[in-house]
Amino acid sequence: MTVVKTANRRLESVLVTGGAGFIGSNFIHYLFRQPGFKGSVINLDSLTYAGNLENLEEIDRTFGENGEKRYEFHRADIRDRAAVEEIFKDRDIDTVVHFAAESHVDRSIHGPKDFIETNIVGTFNVLEIARDRWKDKEGVLFHHISTDEVYGTLGDNGYFYEHTPYDPRSPYSAAKASSDHLVKAYFHTYGLPVTISNCSNNYGPYQFPEKLVPLMILNTAEGKQLPVYGDGMNIRDWLYVEDHCSAVYAVIRGGRTGETYNIGGRSEKPNLHVVTRICEIMDALNPIEKNEMIRESTFNITEYKDLITFVKDRPGHDRRYAVNCDKITKELGWQPSVTFDDGLRATVQWYLDNRRWIENVRSGEYKKWIEKNYGKR
Ligand code: NAD
Ligand code: DAU
Repeated sequence: MTVVKTANRRLESVLVTGGAGFIGSNFIHYLFRQPGFKGSVINLDSLTYAGNLENLEEIDRTFGENGEKRYEFHRADIRDRAAVEEIFKDRDIDTVVHFAAESHVDRSIHGPKDFIETNIVGTFNVLEIARDRWKDKEGVLFHHISTDEVYGTLGDNGYFYEHTPYDPRSPYSAAKASSDHLVKAYFHTYGLPVTISNCSNNYGPYQFPEKLVPLMILNTAEGKQLPVYGDGMNIRDWLYVEDHCSAVYAVIRGGRTGETYNIGGRSEKPNLHVVTRICEIMDALNPIEKNEMIRESTFNITEYKDLITFVKDRPGHDRRYAVNCDKITKELGWQPSVTFDDGLRATVQWYLDNRRWIENVRSGEYKKWIEKNYGKR
């Protein structure tokens, strides 16, 4: 298989799947902020509970059909091949950045079916359509967004490298691993130009409040218990979402086809440390004595840390993730640029400043709006 360096690829027409989700929407914002990006973006998303068009209101206003006409949204489900095919039909898409997935490990434990259907079958559909539409087309690229969780779990030492054998352990990571294998198979078997990135834990604005960081921020703000699984000493490698976006941008412009790039924050933290830092930042930004929600809460606390509660562990809970990302640094010059403390402070502030967004994603109002405008899913 010929390996082509995609150096300084032009991005004319970029299809972003899952663009209404946490990382996908941050990526669309990031792309439009790049002075070198002159192309257009098609956002394909089925708007599950995790997809939220509010994340992109400003993008739609500026670049949508009433603005520069460089951004369009299509509600479509990647499990529905015909619907995805329709989007490829009249457009000259040159780049696919494939974020769409079911992404929450706990949900995959409670119900793996959607994870199999979206992450595996959905990815297969998008790959098939790209293969069909891109026959003999030069300069195209299918970039697949994956996770460090495909590599399994680490002990006290060592790192995940691009060559680390896959050892997924939750239905979520098994489904992601399966999709990675399909993407690689399409490169080797059909010559589809692909790149893959495997990233560590992201945090930042627009993350659905089921994941550790936003859940803990909201629970502290509202005086609710902070449920820490097991002994709180499981380790994740935290990366501010904007750094993930810049890494993906580097790969789709300059990565080598057929290659995998690990992306990580070089920022390993035990969960208990993350939760404790959130409490400390909240103590500074939103002091307990001024927090009306705490006064109304049933807990009698003097500092936010008092809300920490150790609960039953997640089944099959991976102990430690740590990503070696020297390859992307060496080949593409990418480095994480936001420190954990700065990123976390900015994230806490964002959630404090965006109550309306939070109420909407949690109250079900947003879901009703979607059903009214786009019909039931
Ligand atoms: P998210 O759950 O916030 O967003 C997923 C998006 O995909 C949503 O907008 C949802 O509506 C859409 N979607 C889900 N099923 C779909 C379907 N069948 N058809 C069309 N759209 C569908 O997820 P996220 O955290 O933004 O993750 C995005 C990608 O990055 C995923 O592939 C995930 O595996 C990967 N990833 C996430 C992290 C992380 O820390 N969040 C880290 C590494 C990799
Ligand atoms: O490593 C990358 C992965 O990171 C991504 O592929 C996933 O899409 C993303 O969801 C994330 O998976 P995690 O399972 O690591 O993230 P989560 O936020 O669910 O949990 C982070 C850690 O915190 C994990 O060790 C479990 C723990 N945890 C989580 C929650 C929700 C708690 O202790 N309490 C909680 O309430």
